[in-house]
Amino acid sequence: MSSETDGPVFRAMRDRPPFGPIERLGSERLREEQEVTLASPRRRAGIGARSLFTIMDLIYGKARTLEKFRVLELVARVPYQAWENVAYVAVTHTARQPGFARRVFDRVRISRWEQDNEQWHLLILEELVGEDPAGSWFKNRVIPQILAFGYYQYSWLTYAIKPSWSYRLNADFEDHAEHEYALLVQEHPEWESTNFHSHFADEFGQYDSLADLFRQIGYDERLHKLQSEVAIVAPRFA
Ligand SMILES: [Fe+2]
Ligand SMILES: [Fe+2]
Repeated sequence: MSSETDGPVFRAMRDRPPFGPIERLGSERLREEQEVTLASPRRRAGIGARSLFTIMDLIYGKARTLEKFRVLELVARVPYQAWENVAYVAVTHTARQPGFARRVFDRVRISRWEQDNEQWHLLILEELVGEDPAGSWFKNRVIPQILAFGYYQYSWLTYAIKPSWSYRLNADFEDHAEHEYALLVQEHPEWESTNFHSHFADEFGQYDSLADLFRQIGYDERLHKLQSEVAIVAPRFA
């Protein structure tokens, strides 16, 4: 433990489990849910989401590579950060109405949990990708940051002006991720017998195989999508 983290707040929180998978499933259920995803139609993505997918295909290719999923995770996480930020400011302005303020704070908490879940996805993908190939610094490090920055600003602004736009874009993005992970697992039958070892197993869980790890991540993406779909219908804090 480093000296910076050895304070009273850290001591109070260190034994609380971090927020890992949204709903941890066993191996059998993970397989069933992958089939559900493969059999379900994709959402009709709006123009914003389609533009993002096209940009990513142009830069990173259409093939499902771990590098591309790493970029997807980096970008996909930022709406939750933007929503937390907007909602937290809104708590300040609603503080004189306790019931209302609590509902807004629930939005803050949901966004935090969704961020943490997506963070493990990102860290695990980073770990699996390993070292970047030589000469790919701009494509693998700089462009994703630019995409994430633009997406953050867009999410922040739409969430402040018309939250349903932001939720819809996110639902499209998460639906895409859910289907892409299900297809990724299908394309790699050898992963059924590949062990999964990670620095983040304590936080995100142990899995029977690499295939099951990706099934769990794909299932998380579905739950993010469903949460956003609920919010499209009731987007305002009230
Ligand atoms: Fe994710
Ligand atoms: Fe996601």
